[in-house]
Amino acid sequence: MRDDLQQTLVLIKPDALKNSLTGYVLSQFSEFHTGLTFAGTKVVHVTRMLAEEHYAEHRGKVFFPALIEMITGHLHYPGEPDKQRVIAIVYKGPDVIRKVREICGPTNPHVARDEKPGCVRSLGTVVALKDAQGNIVGDRMDNLIHASATPEEAEREIKLWFRPDDIPPAIRAFPTVHS
Ligand code: TYD
Repeated sequence: MRDDLQQTLVLIKPDALKNSLTGYVLSQFSEFHTGLTFAGTKVVHVTRMLAEEHYAEHRGKVFFPALIEMITGHLHYPGEPDKQRVIAIVYKGPDVIRKVREICGPTNPHVARDEKPGCVRSLGTVVALKDAQGNIVGDRMDNLIHASATPEEAEREIKLWFRPDDIPPAIRAFPTVHS
């Protein structure tokens, strides 16, 4: 894909929605700050099938079940199916995959806070699982957002989350997207 056509998938996850961080996250990616623009956006009710397909590379890992509970919204919105959703966005622009990951910061929000204060994921520490003493517990990471890591991953994920009609033809990077 030509660099100026590069696209990436961002998911604003239920832990961010639950903590009213949507506006903050969007502002960090805004065109004004980054020069990047939307190709498409939608609210998605995430089925287990979609969640497991999205995170297929992590199947079998110790944190996988909790990760699926989290991304489907069951963890942060138990018993509230109308709120079990994520906001999915396709951003486009030169070098967008690297730029978006840079704004996100490291996967682990505690590492993010220590090594890259101010990055989006550093805020995940405020919503992390804690025991009664306030110590971080568990293998699951609340890191607020997902962003594709490579061009191959971006293509696979955009095809998984978006139908062709969700993105205007003139700015569609993957004309053969399946639905
Ligand atoms: P990964 O693909 O390694 O990171 P990234 O989201 O930065 O591409 O992991 C996917 C998600 O899995 C990650 O966002 C948070 C979650 N995760 C855990 O909950 N525990 C873990 O130990 C790891 C490595 C990831």
